[in-house]
Amino acid sequence: MEERALIIGESTVKRYLSPEDVIDCVEKTWRWYGEGKVVMPDKITTDMAAMGIPGWFNSMPAYIGPMDVAGIKVVGGYDGNKALGLPYIKANLLVTDSRTGILRALVSGDYINDLRTGAQPAIMARLLAASTDVVTIIGTGLQGYTSLLCMSKVLNIKEVRLSDISEAAMDRYIARFPEDVPFRFVKCRSNEEACRGSDVIITVTNANANLVEEPWVKEGGLVMTMGSFRETSFDVVRKADKIAVDQVGQSLHRGNLKELAAMGEITADSFDILIPDVLAGKMPARTNQKDRIYAQIIGTGMLDVACAGLLLEKITASGDELPRFDMTK
Ligand SMILES: NC(=O)c1ccc[n+]([C@@H]2O[C@H](COP(=O)([O-])OP(=O)(O)OC[C@H]3O[C@@H](n4cnc5c(N)ncnc54)[C@H](O)[C@@H]3O)[C@@H](O)[C@H]2O)c1
Repeated sequence: MEERALIIGESTVKRYLSPEDVIDCVEKTWRWYGEGKVVMPDKITTDMAAMGIPGWFNSMPAYIGPMDVAGIKVVGGYDGNKALGLPYIKANLLVTDSRTGILRALVSGDYINDLRTGAQPAIMARLLAASTDVVTIIGTGLQGYTSLLCMSKVLNIKEVRLSDISEAAMDRYIARFPEDVPFRFVKCRSNEEACRGSDVIITVTNANANLVEEPWVKEGGLVMTMGSFRETSFDVVRKADKIAVDQVGQSLHRGNLKELAAMGEITADSFDILIPDVLAGKMPARTNQKDRIYAQIIGTGMLDVACAGLLLEKITASGDELPRFDMTK
């Protein structure tokens, strides 16, 4: 039996997958998960800090039934990367044959990780926001960029307010978008200025701090946290009318909800809206225009594995012969 694996680098991934492909794939995969057609154990974190290595990585396996794709994403955050000119987050994907375990492909996971990360707030805002006229992005790094990139594909946005501890990061962020974007950028001097009156507030930083305070969130506002640590005061969660998550188990162990979960204030029963279940037609999304909704987007490996599966489908459909590595040699 042949064991010839593809080894696919970043520029090849970019050639075959567009932001629209990834948004569609993320939405379908969430729906399949809500329909019980995905197997996904909770991610495992390997934190190397105790050994003096300033970084961590997650092992995130999944099997996507409707695509018959089995694989694992290995993704980490490495504090030293910035100094090396590398992104903070680095991801790799491995796809195996679901019946034999034979390696189908090793895929550079950065572009897929960044785009699927950005696709999430785009789909969630479409389901949960009362309005998307004014969007606030706190943390104008790479994931903040892909978030707005994907949101701009599916939402009507008039104003994008930016806040970051680095003025240069905000300038670089604006420069990544074409000059004729249909919204105006506003660089804010404080998070409070960025948040008050905003329809959708997104935090996507590597901070561990109260970046958003509860009185700054307007009636009907949507707050979505995406960073790996605390990003709002506890009251933003406590006083929200509804809490939404992309996945239950992992939402209790990481990100903005981790400390509230450790204190016993947030449990698996605290979540009013499960996005995969909304997409599967099992529960409604927003039901009241006045509700303040808090959403945690923790990010799940099934999305990357599904995108890698879509990539392989597109390569096969193209008829292109990409170099393969004979795993028996
Ligand atoms: N939820 C998900 O699916 C998902 C996926 C990938 C990454 N992440 C997380 O997203 C976060 C951002 O990742 P990235 O790749 O964009 O990193 P990045 O380094 O490119 O960007 C982070 C930005 O946050 C800014 N920042 C840091 N502290 C801040 C503060 N106190 N106030 C305002 N801005 C601040 C930095 O200046 C920087 O511009 C990380 O926590 C990462 O682990 C989440």
